[in-house]
Amino acid sequence: MCGIVGYVGASAPSSRPRDVVLAGLSRLEYRGYDSAGIAVATPGHDAVALAKKAGKLVNLEKQLAERPLPESTIGIGHTRWATHGAPTDANAHPHLAAGGRVAVIHNGIIENHAVLRDELLAEGIEILSDTDTEVAGHLIAREVLNGADLATAMRSVAKRLEGAFTLLAIDALEPDIVVGARRNSPLVAGLGDGEAFLASDVVAFIDYTRDAIELGQDEVVRISKEGVEVFDAAGNPIEREPFRVEWDAERAQKGGFDSFMDKEIHDQPTAVADTLKGRMDDQGRLVLDGGIIDPYVLSSIDKIIIIACGTAAYAGMVARYAIEHWTRIPVEVELAHEFRYRDPIVGIRTLVVAVSQSGETMDTLMAVRYAQRQGAPTIAIVNAQGSTIAREADAVLYTRAGPEIAVASTKAFVAQITAAFLLGIYLAQLRGNKYPDEIDALLDQLEEMPAKLQRVIDESEPVRQVAKDLVDERTVLFLGRHVGFPIALEGALKLKELAYIHAEGFAAGELKHGPIALIEPGQPVFIVLPSPRGRAELHSKVLSNIQEVKARGAKTLVIAEEGDEVAAQNADHVFYVPAAPTLMTPLLQVIPLQIFALELAQAKGYDVDQPRNLAKSVTVE
Ligand code: AGP
Repeated sequence: MCGIVGYVGASAPSSRPRDVVLAGLSRLEYRGYDSAGIAVATPGHDAVALAKKAGKLVNLEKQLAERPLPESTIGIGHTRWATHGAPTDANAHPHLAAGGRVAVIHNGIIENHAVLRDELLAEGIEILSDTDTEVAGHLIAREVLNGADLATAMRSVAKRLEGAFTLLAIDALEPDIVVGARRNSPLVAGLGDGEAFLASDVVAFIDYTRDAIELGQDEVVRISKEGVEVFDAAGNPIEREPFRVEWDAERAQKGGFDSFMDKEIHDQPTAVADTLKGRMDDQGRLVLDGGIIDPYVLSSIDKIIIIACGTAAYAGMVARYAIEHWTRIPVEVELAHEFRYRDPIVGIRTLVVAVSQSGETMDTLMAVRYAQRQGAPTIAIVNAQGSTIAREADAVLYTRAGPEIAVASTKAFVAQITAAFLLGIYLAQLRGNKYPDEIDALLDQLEEMPAKLQRVIDESEPVRQVAKDLVDERTVLFLGRHVGFPIALEGALKLKELAYIHAEGFAAGELKHGPIALIEPGQPVFIVLPSPRGRAELHSKVLSNIQEVKARGAKTLVIAEEGDEVAAQNADHVFYVPAAPTLMTPLLQVIPLQIFALELAQAKGYDVDQPRNLAKSVTVE
């Protein structure tokens, strides 16, 4: 996700548009910090003035100190979380069109940008960046040059776009308005006194006004000194009641949540949906984000090794079950810091997959380099665009979870599993293990997951309550089998790193081989119970595990598929998740465990965004 700001207000050219836009960007930098840019328009000038720079906002501010922008009456600004195109100066927003007359900024993913790009290139329009945004800018400029006012141009272009977008545009020849449009991406308008604002988040303008209007799906907005006008997709004016923003700035950055972690837990349906978006080309082939590995090489690999650390490793463990099942290629999951010291058997027919949210984890980076020295092709599943692991791997498949600020990984985890599933489906397709209709069925099942994640989040109050009741517990155990085993490990890790209490995950089948000695009356034990519909024998075996620990006095907290009444008969607490294909259930089962850890840590008064002793990215070995 990116940060977007627009401002109209100065009756005569002044520095206020620039100042307001830069201040807004600084409040939105948590949404993305790959690059930052600003464009302003001044009456009498037939082109906008532009400044943009890769890296954090401070880089743009340094550039502006050396080369100030002219005084102006309107402005737009953007902080980027790159999805299409590396985080470079050229790919930074705003993007210009019509010889600098029009400037555009964008948050989201325009899925049909390639087709639209070809249309523009065929007309001889020069496109300077790799971004989908610039394509939208040229389309808007083409309408303006044909005589449309900016709002009309925006409306007609928005109808042609597929995917998710928040777009803002200015026209140097209309230096008293800013126009925006949105679909599946946030946009709010601020109502000031003789001035108006647009932003992806109210935090950008609440220092100037707390009266705001939320834009609806496929609506177009035009702001001017006189106020805010909203139109529907057909151009009909819409009356929209403003709301009053009661949040302070810090809370607003968290989208109204108490913590980035809670916000990011709620971001998970979007993270999965965005990671799935636009992944298959029109021949139904997976489209990697960067680099290529010869399909012949991928067709001839005889082993896959997934390397990662912490939560990312558990995502790899979940993916292993699916990739092996779909491709029949042996898959190993290795902790990156162990991998290269065990003298692993790695060769040109071993595909090494590095999973990393930050793309900077030194243990994982060193393991990638080791694998490459052995001649293995490497693919990175990474969240941070342009990060070191993404750049050094032979190919990259980005998770599109947006910036993950909280140290404890949540939305990146579900996005990593999703991306690894896509890789498995791609390999199965490439190697002919799955027919096209089977591939389509798997993709359809994945497309249904975001809505199911949303339901688990919406129905999470019971687990929040139980967490508060268990605030004084000193140790919690987690059991899971098959794809539930990595979820047990992840649930234990979340509790360790957030609530600082001993928590341990076990393979449920391991219980009787030792760990059951830990069970004593009152000992809380989470059990991830497989669906009774999937592998019935797994369900019955884990049910036995529940009964074994319950017989020894454990307090059983069971994650089960909705409708599984047997679970409730054997649990002190049962937390239901929607039915889903066996291999995809971890995307749902992990959510109650994330929320349990968050709530228990908050009940202890801990900082859940920055837990003690931890860093968001471990860039040392
Ligand atoms: C997860 O909550 C932790 N923050 C940690 O285990 C993390 O997953 C691990 O350090 C790997 O980080 P990466 O995904 O950025 O490589």
